[in-house]
Amino acid sequence: MKIMAGNSNLPLARAIAGYLELTLTDASVRRFADEEVFVEIHENVRGEDVFVVQSTSFPANDNLMELLICIDALKRASARRITAVVPYFGYARQDRKSGSRTPISAKLVANMIDKAGADRVLAVDLHAGQIQGFFDIPTDNLYAAPTMAQDILERTAGQELMVVSPDVGGVVRARALAKRLDNAPLAIVDKRRDKPGSSEVMNIIGDVRGRSCVLIDDIIDSGGTLCNAAQAIMEAGAASVSAYITHGVLSGGAVARVDNSALKELVITDTILPTDAARDSSRIRILPIAPLIGEAIRRIADESSVSSLFD
Ligand code: R5P
Repeated sequence: MKIMAGNSNLPLARAIAGYLELTLTDASVRRFADEEVFVEIHENVRGEDVFVVQSTSFPANDNLMELLICIDALKRASARRITAVVPYFGYARQDRKSGSRTPISAKLVANMIDKAGADRVLAVDLHAGQIQGFFDIPTDNLYAAPTMAQDILERTAGQELMVVSPDVGGVVRARALAKRLDNAPLAIVDKRRDKPGSSEVMNIIGDVRGRSCVLIDDIIDSGGTLCNAAQAIMEAGAASVSAYITHGVLSGGAVARVDNSALKELVITDTILPTDAARDSSRIRILPIAPLIGEAIRRIADESSVSSLFD
């Protein structure tokens, strides 16, 4: 087995290789003067089971292109099996036509990875489970929930927990986490606009008074969804509110928004390489995801069960 990496998140790729007691495959993924991506693998990979670790996070198009070209290089070097390990699968939010004459870019990206020559895909908390069906190759979708649940249980002993979904679309994810937290009760933030142009009204479905609330979501991007939800939860009388989010996209002024929010703490995983601002924030803590991905890779290589990781 070999672990190769693009440039999107080298510390994560090294940590995954470390978990498997390997070093990264000797390769260079670099740019020509005109910014074209060029990949050169400096060791033999003929007949190997190769896992390419690359999140398609910011800059999404550059990182996607690196992933595709790494796969092409491996295919032409006669790797036996190539698994695209995409801890954060960018473009996932474009998983349906959002209006007339709009694309389904998640499907296009899946086609590109498939066509480049990947034999399998391994991702973490795909924005929507059905994205697995966009690929015509086996696709494993890992869940960060068990890692998060363990962290929450270690830090909240004796507190009256309540899991909160920041929108109606996240209820299934929130319920799955609540189940792992000894069946903690569930609340939902329901965002409504009475008429176009009027300001958004946040209703909390469930009684959060006096509770230590845990918001859960797959992505924090601008931070708007989360910070507004946290504010509404505190106004409804919660004792505290923290958030556990798998993918810290944190674009624009998101870190500052979190720093000035009602959130006690934001916990993200390192599927996306955290920026310096995120690392320096006293409100943000980073949960390592390498053990989960490393263990899944070990099981794929051994052809043992991946789903039993989540039993
Ligand atoms: C949306 O469906 C996602 O699950 C997140 O809630 C959303 O992407 C967060 O975006 P933002 O942080 O910009 O509100």
